[in-house]
Amino acid sequence: MTRTALRRGATAPTVSSAPNDASVASRPPTAPPPPSAEAATPFYGGGVGRGRAGRADGGVRGPALVRTHHLQEQKARGEKIVAVTCYDATFARLVDGAGVDVVLVGDSLGNVIQGQSSTLPVTLDDIVYHTRAVARGLQRAHLVADMPFMTYWSAEVALPNAGRLLAEDGAHAVKLEGGAAVAGVVAQLVAAGIPVMGHIGLTPQSVHALGGHRVQGRGATARARLLRDARALQDAGCYALVLEGIPRALAAEISGALQIPTIGIGAGEGCDGQILVLYDMLGLNPGFNPKFLKLFANLGDEVTRAVGAYRDEVRVGSFPAPEHGYQEEQAARPTLAVAR
Ligand code: KIV
Repeated sequence: MTRTALRRGATAPTVSSAPNDASVASRPPTAPPPPSAEAATPFYGGGVGRGRAGRADGGVRGPALVRTHHLQEQKARGEKIVAVTCYDATFARLVDGAGVDVVLVGDSLGNVIQGQSSTLPVTLDDIVYHTRAVARGLQRAHLVADMPFMTYWSAEVALPNAGRLLAEDGAHAVKLEGGAAVAGVVAQLVAAGIPVMGHIGLTPQSVHALGGHRVQGRGATARARLLRDARALQDAGCYALVLEGIPRALAAEISGALQIPTIGIGAGEGCDGQILVLYDMLGLNPGFNPKFLKLFANLGDEVTRAVGAYRDEVRVGSFPAPEHGYQEEQAARPTLAVAR
């Protein structure tokens, strides 16, 4: 993979603008206003489900459970929103303990978990499985589940699918890709009580329609269309918007124009928050190093080193050492001896 690739299996981004404009749907007449802190005042005291006040983890500020209105308030305070993707309970515990605000079970799992070259083969069952696992590991973070390709092409299809992600899996919201063309579906999900995060710009489920993983929103027409898309999604009731793979200045302009928070990936510092694919930022994909990505660790090298050391010790017989084994009397209580 080259340094300039935007996604796995991507060709290098070009300077061309997006192809044809997507169709533009009109604003739904019943679109609810963006969520406000007042509207979200807890009726039951906020103690239901995940989220525990007084959690022992040091350095984690903010609410016991991050809700949509907290993200809105963070934008109002100019406090950046921190989001990462996650796909299992072990990493969920770790990122939650580190104090991220939002965890997304992204369809990027098709790439980083399943080894696919795009997100298109990811199914709703895949997202359901991983969202359940992640929910078990979280205490504080706001959990968003991605809606896979073709699971929201009409409201009739989207409603039961999104409902399943919230009802069965512990997600607090769903995310779906697309601009004004999906505003009608968004409005119906929101009307049904399902918080929706939008996603515009480089939308990987449209990789073939976009002609590859290219930076979007370059040129006056594409720029105007993205601004229109962003407003349409806000008007339809989205509580937040992912901006992916667009010029920094455009992302800053959209973020300034919207009341709802924007969360950027490859969209520069002007967004209200940032999201990265966890495996990418941890350096678990050696060779995947696009321009927008910063490696905050190099766990790939560390895993290879550790497993290599294990291999060597097993081969020479230095692992397991006597202290890793059980005595006769301990063997009589095996469940205690191996309990985590
Ligand atoms: O699927 C995903 O991981 C995403 C984020 C990169 C925004 O959509």
